[in-house]
Amino acid sequence: MTALVRYSRDGEIAEICLDNPPVNALGVDLRAGILDALEKFTADDGARMAVLYAAGRTFVAGADIREFGKPPKEPFLPDLVNALEALEKPILCVLHGTALGGGLELALGAHYRLGLPGVKVGLPETGLGILPGAGGTQRLPRLAGMEPALDIMTSARQVGAQEALSLGLLDALAEDGSTPLEAGRAMAMRLIAEGAGPRRISDLPAPAITPDKLNEIRAQIRKRFPGQIAQLTAIDAAVEGAALPFHEGMKHERKLFQALMDSPQRAALIHAFFAERKVAQLPELKGITPRSFEKIGVIGGGRMGGGIAVSALLAGLDVTLIERDPGAAEAAREGVAATLAESVKRGKLSDERRAEILAQKFRSATDYAVLAESDVVIEAVFEDMGIKREVFEALDRNCKPGAVLATNTSYLDIPQIAAITTRPADVIGLHFFSPAHVMRLLEIVVPEGAAPEVVATGFALGKRLRKVSVRAGVCDGFIGNRILQVYRAAADHIVLAGASPYEVDRAVVGFGFPMGPYAVQDLAGLDIGFMTRQRKAPNRDPREFVPLWGDVMHARGWHGRKTGQGYYSYGPEHPRGAPSPEVEAIIAAERAERGIQPRSFTPDEIVSRYMAAMVNESARVVGEGIAARPLDVDVTLLHGYGFPRWRGGPMHWADTQGLSEILRQIESFQREDAYFWQPAPLLQELAANGRDFSSLNKG
Ligand code: CAA
Repeated sequence: MTALVRYSRDGEIAEICLDNPPVNALGVDLRAGILDALEKFTADDGARMAVLYAAGRTFVAGADIREFGKPPKEPFLPDLVNALEALEKPILCVLHGTALGGGLELALGAHYRLGLPGVKVGLPETGLGILPGAGGTQRLPRLAGMEPALDIMTSARQVGAQEALSLGLLDALAEDGSTPLEAGRAMAMRLIAEGAGPRRISDLPAPAITPDKLNEIRAQIRKRFPGQIAQLTAIDAAVEGAALPFHEGMKHERKLFQALMDSPQRAALIHAFFAERKVAQLPELKGITPRSFEKIGVIGGGRMGGGIAVSALLAGLDVTLIERDPGAAEAAREGVAATLAESVKRGKLSDERRAEILAQKFRSATDYAVLAESDVVIEAVFEDMGIKREVFEALDRNCKPGAVLATNTSYLDIPQIAAITTRPADVIGLHFFSPAHVMRLLEIVVPEGAAPEVVATGFALGKRLRKVSVRAGVCDGFIGNRILQVYRAAADHIVLAGASPYEVDRAVVGFGFPMGPYAVQDLAGLDIGFMTRQRKAPNRDPREFVPLWGDVMHARGWHGRKTGQGYYSYGPEHPRGAPSPEVEAIIAAERAERGIQPRSFTPDEIVSRYMAAMVNESARVVGEGIAARPLDVDVTLLHGYGFPRWRGGPMHWADTQGLSEILRQIESFQREDAYFWQPAPLLQELAANGRDFSSLNKG
């Protein structure tokens, strides 16, 4: 037996402890160790019952995802679970932490299941592009019923302890305060006293589901997960398997599991899983200890500042918010209180906790002197260098030495902001996305000369706020907005050449984005685009195409959803917007003025231009060191810009297409606009050497 599994016996109870940190993932050695322990239990005549539990922070969190895509090694997990279930003597599993995927499937093979308080269980495999492949699609419906089982598998959600108990996934919940072993032994002793024997889920009858209900569920899934195959395949495995004898159902599950394992969607989703963990692993942070922080200052109580304050408060931090005058400070306080009330409504926070936060952890003020004890201060005021100057001079005067001073600017020059202070090494950018308490992306913008422990503190804060933090270098737009500006410009090129904004949006949604670029602009407000164009005008290269139709719409007061008219017309009949013939006329007039004969585009042509522009600018961003690696770009686009997760991010997607092919497309688009479609040097270099972006993610 390997050291990952320990077998021992105390009285009549065999104790099988799994110990494979950090999350007890079911890699080949753990599987072999468990099988060994089961054999020991069978042979141990003194053992009447076994308690299987895990050491560390959690029971098994699933199969070892690092093994995916490699040749599978015996013992296979479904065989292990079957062997567990087939034991002639009873076995009890004790679950704590998060029993997920193969972890829950292992437990479903056991004859009894006990949960520790706070345990969460789930089958998240569909979120990784596969299905529960160790009997989950066959055993869960038998235990919980078909509809709850389909919900758990397709939503990939974590089911809380009480719900798991009421669905029968757990037989009992232990009292607070006992260890998994203590709780397991106590229950095992009770079961032995009752003369309990083995009890197998595979012996239960398979539940049925009506064709109408099934069609309804399939339709909902198609709507909720457009383009994705794993959820629908998991439904097939469960429903088709239920019509077969158990062992035939298991074979069917295996076949469908293998097909998903070989799919590009699985590769993309696993890439996303590891990439969002790797973003925080940077050579520059190795061995660097972040500064400690508990007290956060936020400057500016608008939508962004308020959202940042709420995010910090929800993470248990102490927050002081500074506004210009008492009226604005009070309004900001009310705004934060209202957002926290929404969190109560959504069940994220209890009423008592909200009251406690507002009484003890949060205050708004006007005097910077109250920030004297703050460990991190985040500025989120109007994007104007003059105003930022006043703020950072005040911070420099009032904050203690060692305080991290951060700006949430979206585009102003952070080194210039740092230079306002006498401590530029303590200044970084923390670029949150709106609404800041909801959006998970945080760009940590690192100006040259920032102290490594200041950067490490940014990442530690991001982790505490449960954000996905990505390191970005200094440039206009950092990683995300810089790439966004370019693929939006590509969309404008396509529209100028003849497609309508609605065709572009439809094609982009067809690719998998939740919204197209024009619907997004309507949502954000067309005045933002107008201001960006104005800001960039002085330094713009005369060869750059910038459409005038946006200015015409702005001049008419069409600012998007908030004014009822943008690229789309909004009204009671069209709350999500209807195409606007007037907008099409404005665009047609510009084409005519520029002497452009409109041509038609297929959705594929639209997507290939849109994506080529995105990939090309992403390659520049990596080539210039603005993003540390291609995976940092992928995570930025996945978490801040709605890139479809099942395509892995633009750089992963580009690898699947082949970089030479993307380069070939860009070179062919050059005939239309040689200035816009200049290939990124990194893309050329990788394509010339037959390499891909993922080769730059290693290490
Ligand atoms: N396999 C391999 N490594 C895993 C893993 C897994 N299933 N789950 C987590 N890890 C690793 C992470 O990569 C991370 O490694 P590094 O520290 O080197 O970055 C480490 O464990 C800790 O993970 P987190 O940082 O995510 O820790 P957390 O406490 O925030 O979250 C968790 C813990 C909820 C378990 C989360 O890690 C998670 O959701 N894991 C994936 C669970 C999952 O999807 N399981 C199903 C697997 S597929 C399956 O089981 C197939 C089947 O049907 C047989």
